[in-house]
Amino acid sequence: MMSNKSSIANHRAAAWVNEMAALCQPAAIHWCDGSDAEHQTLCDLMVRSGMLTKLNEKLRPGSFLARSHPSDVARVEDRTFICWQTPREAGPTNHWADAAQMKQKLLGLFKGSMEGRTMYVIPFAMGPLNSPICKIGIEITDSPYVVANMRIMTRMGQAVLDKLGAEGAFIPCLHSVGAPLRPGQKDVPWPCEPDPKNKYIVHFPDEPSIWSYGSGYGGNALLGKKCLALRIASVVAWRQGWLAEHMLVLCLTSPAGKRHYLAAAFPSACGKTNLAMMQPTLPGWKVTTLGDDIAWIRIGKDGQLYAVNPETGFFGVAPGTSMKSNPNAMAACARNTIFTNVVLTPEGDVWWEDMGVPPPKRGIDWQGNEWTPDSGRKGAHPNARFTAPVSQCPVIDPDWQNPDGVPLSAILFGGRRPHTIPLVNEAFDWEHGVFLGSACGSETTAAALGQAGVLRRDPFAMLPFCGYHMGDYFAHWLSFTQRTDRAKLPKVYFVNWFRKGADGKFLWPGYGENARVLKWICERVEGAGKAQKTPIGNLPTPDALDLTDLRLPEENVKDLLALDVEGWKKEVADVEASYARFDGHLPKALRDQLDGLKKRLAEVGH
Ligand code: OXD
Ligand code: MN
Repeated sequence: MMSNKSSIANHRAAAWVNEMAALCQPAAIHWCDGSDAEHQTLCDLMVRSGMLTKLNEKLRPGSFLARSHPSDVARVEDRTFICWQTPREAGPTNHWADAAQMKQKLLGLFKGSMEGRTMYVIPFAMGPLNSPICKIGIEITDSPYVVANMRIMTRMGQAVLDKLGAEGAFIPCLHSVGAPLRPGQKDVPWPCEPDPKNKYIVHFPDEPSIWSYGSGYGGNALLGKKCLALRIASVVAWRQGWLAEHMLVLCLTSPAGKRHYLAAAFPSACGKTNLAMMQPTLPGWKVTTLGDDIAWIRIGKDGQLYAVNPETGFFGVAPGTSMKSNPNAMAACARNTIFTNVVLTPEGDVWWEDMGVPPPKRGIDWQGNEWTPDSGRKGAHPNARFTAPVSQCPVIDPDWQNPDGVPLSAILFGGRRPHTIPLVNEAFDWEHGVFLGSACGSETTAAALGQAGVLRRDPFAMLPFCGYHMGDYFAHWLSFTQRTDRAKLPKVYFVNWFRKGADGKFLWPGYGENARVLKWICERVEGAGKAQKTPIGNLPTPDALDLTDLRLPEENVKDLLALDVEGWKKEVADVEASYARFDGHLPKALRDQLDGLKKRLAEVGH
């Protein structure tokens, strides 16, 4: 078998790659160095195979479009497994499978799965290479598209092998699209396993290792992201006393130059990427971005919590991204970007729904068919993506690669909640904050699969990403009062940009105006900022939010901050029902929080 590396210093890595090559039977092995020349060669190869279309160099320099197979367009949560020894360890929110049986199954699937293809070996790091929190993985894949995306999303290549040295540890990540090429067989633009029941995204937390079969899309295939940096890292973090979270990280700077770092967890489709790089409407206030999806958080030497973004790219949802909703994301994907499942325009540029510019008169849709705006079909898939380097975001924070991370002033939870939940609510203390995180949920939108408009509880926005029992995860969060001085912990907030009035219209304008809420949060952190204690938490007094020049009707402000006691009683019942599945693993502190809230609500109810 041809390989471009005859020797590799790390014997375990070399042995594992040899073993996997013997299993998967590729035609050749390519060790990725991450160089520009390698990237060029791979892109040329994919353009020739039809997997990529080169975009107009003048309009989108260095950028490409890929169209996936219509069966392979999103993460497959129902095909995602966590193989602990017992189902109890995986908990009720994960799909469990017996490790030995699953290994047998996977060995069968991977046997000869790379026949006729090149096996790429991608040494990658999550977190800055010089950071104590950095984790190294090696992804083996038969997809050059995965290599090109991993090059944007992670630190990848020779520098990682150098850091790994002869003895360094790594997390093995094996990926195959599951489409061997028999001799003489013609390849297709997007090879994958078309049968959804034959896709497997599998985690072995005890080893730890990741095996992914059958899908070439996003979180299923770019194994550094959801699989390693969230599911596996959440387990490592639990064992080692830190946190791996589904959070954006931003810095808010006041006109006086005072900086506050905030981390925020929102379920999908709640505008995490938009908030991460928003343009505040308040004069003199500035937001800079550290990350839009994942934060690794640990206790620093001074006892504060420090956050690091382990990624180097944005894998953002394209539809809905516009100069109005997120000009900085538009700038980030202006060049050197891989687009997947968007419309190709006759000029060789891209278009998607709600891009804020008129659609082309005709184009090629995400399935490769001729498309016109009046065809009655969407041109881009609702989960179409751009993969763009973080470094291209115009408001990137100078500390985004700081190996020690940035100290967090506050942690925000949120969701899409049309009723009951106020614009912003401050937790009384850490335990109350953990309760708010555990009660996190969002109303589903039409863009997601399944029924729209139902409330899906998504604790800490980690429902699909927590690699162990969610009840133990709650307990881990609660344990931070014992790990550091509680006064050093960030304050916790629950925000909701999506409350609606009786007329069904949003009460709050959102986007850049959200800076007004962030400003209040920072004022509270500094010990100023007026608040009133209510049964559900500390809410801003009506005059506490800076609403200068907003021209929002007074009624809206009142409604946004109104305490809906009856709604909250329903909320409590619903949270209680969602807790039932955690049975013996639910920490008593959360049960106490629920009881306390019930009691306080009953008192105002009288
Ligand atoms: C993502 C997700 O792709 O959360 O970031 O689904
Ligand atoms: Mn995400």
